[in-house]
Amino acid sequence: MKPRVGVLTSGGDCPGLNAVLRGVALAAEKLNLEVLGFLDGFEGLLPPGNFILLDRRSTSGIMPRGGTMIGTTNRGHFVGKIGAGDKAIVAAEVIADAKRILREQRVEALIIVGGDGSMTTALQLQESGINCIGVPKTIDNDLEATAMTFGFDSAVATVTDALDRLHTTATSHKRVMILEVMGRHAGWIALHGGLAGGAHIILIPEIPFDYDKIGEALRRRDARGSIYSLVVVAEGSRPSDGSAVMRPVETGEFRFGGIGNIVAAEIAARTGKETRCTVLGHLQRGGAPTTLDRILGTRFGVQAVKMIHKRQFGSMVSYQNYQVRHVPIADAINRLRLVPVDGEMVQTARDVEISFGD
Ligand code: F6P
Repeated sequence: MKPRVGVLTSGGDCPGLNAVLRGVALAAEKLNLEVLGFLDGFEGLLPPGNFILLDRRSTSGIMPRGGTMIGTTNRGHFVGKIGAGDKAIVAAEVIADAKRILREQRVEALIIVGGDGSMTTALQLQESGINCIGVPKTIDNDLEATAMTFGFDSAVATVTDALDRLHTTATSHKRVMILEVMGRHAGWIALHGGLAGGAHIILIPEIPFDYDKIGEALRRRDARGSIYSLVVVAEGSRPSDGSAVMRPVETGEFRFGGIGNIVAAEIAARTGKETRCTVLGHLQRGGAPTTLDRILGTRFGVQAVKMIHKRQFGSMVSYQNYQVRHVPIADAINRLRLVPVDGEMVQTARDVEISFGD
């Protein structure tokens, strides 16, 4: 019987997860390991155990597919953390059940592909005696412990494409088009997408904005004869005298979202311009991964299996200086990488006359 390892995907999905799973399956085969893919995040660890075999055959052809072939959830029995810094503890019985299922299935180590919250759970599992390896995932690209995560590039490509499309209709109608994008605490998607898509105003959580300053920036464009404008708004952005906008979802929880329409209304009221808001939402999380995300996902998956082989448990894959390395999971959680407000990217944007509304 071959030694077995497990893998699961947890939290919000993103393009590139299937590339990770394929990388895990193929690298494991090379080391004569069998891989069980636990379904729907950590929930697949609950009795009676819900999993499928991930091998060369079952992962064949999945690289270009968005989402995750083994499902995911950002809810359920293992939610170890809700929101930045807001920890919850996974119940001892739940962990005991998971340990029993892993033991019964002869799973010697578990690869957990997820974001900050999932890594908090991973650390708790590791501390309870389950051998865990973390693989970082967030389209927001806001984990301090890794310079990049897969899914981000695909999300930025979707934002860029949306801006290209909004550009043509904005010029036809001489309108101000507002695009609300993801980014709860960090404005990386808005900043990169806005730069690539030629936005004129980019609003990010790290730089509180002022509606009057946005109006001034639009009037400056008018004075130069520009007949339209593109505004990108990260969902976590907020005015300097206000707070971020949240909306309730079906579970009674709150999610970021709604600031785009407010910005559109404030611009219309201040400038008299015709404005329209598009909320890109989960389109940023769906669809085929870009080349970069396929490669990064594959590298992360292969690295995770190598880390199991070297018994580097309690560690998370990390991308630093163009190399795939690893860091302790404990060092990776609760440390968000925000856009440096005086950094080169923001300055470059300002140098090409992008306003941050400040
Ligand atoms: O963390 C990734 C993310 O896509 C955020 O950018 C967004 O605010 C959130 O997840 C949406 O969560 P859900 O899929 O539960 O609506």
